[in-house]
Amino acid sequence: MRVPAPLSLVALGLVGSTVAHPLIDHEEVLGRKSDSQEKAEAVKEAFQHAWDGYMKYAYPHDELHPVSNGYGDSRNGWGASAVDALSTAIIMGKTDVVNTILDHVSKVDYSQTDSEVSLFETTIRYLGGMLSGYDLLKGPAARMAHNPGLVDTLLVQAKNLGDVLKFAFDTGSGVPYNNINITSKGNDGSSANGLAVTGTLVLEWTRLSDLTGDDEYASLSQKAESYLLNPKPSSAEPFPGLVGSNIDIATGKFTDGHVSWDGGDDSFYEYLIKMFVYDPTRFALYKDRWVLAAESTIEHLQAHPEPRPDLTWLASYDSGSYSLNSQHLTCFDGGSFLLGGTVLNRQDFIDFGLELVHGCEATYNSTLTKIGPDSWGWDPKQVPSDQKEFYEKAGFYITSGAYILRPEVIESFYYAYRVTGKEIYRDWAWNAFVAINATARTDSGFAALSDVNAPNGGSKYDNQESFLFAEVMKYSYIIHAEDAEWQVQTGGKNNFVFNTEAHPVRVQHT
Ligand SMILES: *[C@@H]1O[C@H](CO)[C@@H](O)[C@H](O)[C@H]1NC(C)=O
Ligand SMILES: *[C@@H]1O[C@H](CO)[C@@H](O)[C@H](O)[C@H]1NC(C)=O
Ligand SMILES: *[C@@H]1O[C@H](CO)[C@@H](O)[C@H](O)[C@H]1NC(C)=O
Repeated sequence: MRVPAPLSLVALGLVGSTVAHPLIDHEEVLGRKSDSQEKAEAVKEAFQHAWDGYMKYAYPHDELHPVSNGYGDSRNGWGASAVDALSTAIIMGKTDVVNTILDHVSKVDYSQTDSEVSLFETTIRYLGGMLSGYDLLKGPAARMAHNPGLVDTLLVQAKNLGDVLKFAFDTGSGVPYNNINITSKGNDGSSANGLAVTGTLVLEWTRLSDLTGDDEYASLSQKAESYLLNPKPSSAEPFPGLVGSNIDIATGKFTDGHVSWDGGDDSFYEYLIKMFVYDPTRFALYKDRWVLAAESTIEHLQAHPEPRPDLTWLASYDSGSYSLNSQHLTCFDGGSFLLGGTVLNRQDFIDFGLELVHGCEATYNSTLTKIGPDSWGWDPKQVPSDQKEFYEKAGFYITSGAYILRPEVIESFYYAYRVTGKEIYRDWAWNAFVAINATARTDSGFAALSDVNAPNGGSKYDNQESFLFAEVMKYSYIIHAEDAEWQVQTGGKNNFVFNTEAHPVRVQHT
């Protein structure tokens, strides 16, 4: 979904139970139902706690500083936590919160900011948040808005934001600059743009076009994506479907052949299959590219640590050599294989997705706090001497023990549960949520942690990223919530698809 944690931080049943469990008796089904309702309620309590702290100490700024009860404006000061919380508040049925956010969005001036704008972060959090709110409030949550005019304003504001940002694509190739100055219409002078930040725009920008009837946004994002779908030179695609990490902005050619599913590359692969879910007619090529990447990943990138051959993670590859390390960010991978597997009816992808889910669960359940680290390795030649015992038991050593409220592990538990209907994945999501609530919670919200393998998670880092609201709270909730139109479904029956910030947008029916 995004770039790795900053160094400074590092330093410091759908299928319904009945189908999936044909042998369990009725009472047990009912027992589980009320149990999952209680868990869903407990997640709502945590969301409300964080929302109240944000409103009290930080609103209308971007994020709460949950230790000092201060605030930050890391996302241009447009109220990132409010906009990122909208789709979760809708899904949780929190009418007051929803109406507060609708009111907020109507007042934002997206043409003004003091700081550099990230095209990627702005797209996935603000644009995705508003488009999702619009789709939900025009559809399954239609009765929540007190002032229906403010729902229309969501789309107006999404278009305003798109119009502010679109000059970023005005380059020699159409590959955008990521870091832009919206006042001067300038940029940071980069010669290359990253794979994920280039390839994680197309869902939101296409949705904006499909809702407004103005094709420009879709065209711009799909033109940029075209270089990723037809990678040049051939050295940029060392295995079919797996491509390099950086693209020259002037020419659209890749500048390297470094291959991974880690931060910086991750959501490019995520969006290939999600675009097919969004519209299988227009995005068949995207699906073909995802299938190639998935097959190559199973063949070339899957790795099993020496002490724990039962575990599976993805290595990265560059010029003939492999790096045996992975990241919390990478753990969206299980969910991606599960979504692709169910949509394309490929049991091999589902099975491999579950192996990845198990590998990520192992990074959680091996630590003292039961929360997984931001990054880890399993190269037997590089085990730090003070982690030898841990490595022999857990199968990995920790390279960054931080936890910055990332969602990817719980996200993949969610896909595993929706696709298989197996309760174990709900249990794992619950364990993770309980651990986060027990370790990261402060009097006003949730803080990042410096070391998940230290008592109490080490020290608390004074920041609460907006994606706590959009992602951690949402996936923790919907895995226990009842079936609904916006939930992930098995097979090809999805009515919504989640952007990389967990904002569900309505798929295009053809
Ligand atoms: C953006 O450009 C304006 C106008 O040239 C300038 O005043 C401002 O400092 C720039 N902002 C940033 C964050 O560089
Ligand atoms: C810990 O993770 C492993 C690997 O996924 C799994 O087999 C095991 O059941 C998990 N243990 C617990 C207590 O959840
Ligand atoms: C979360 O933490 C709060 C405060 O300690 C506690 O009251 C609540 O029961 C916890 N929720 C869960 C599910 O552990």
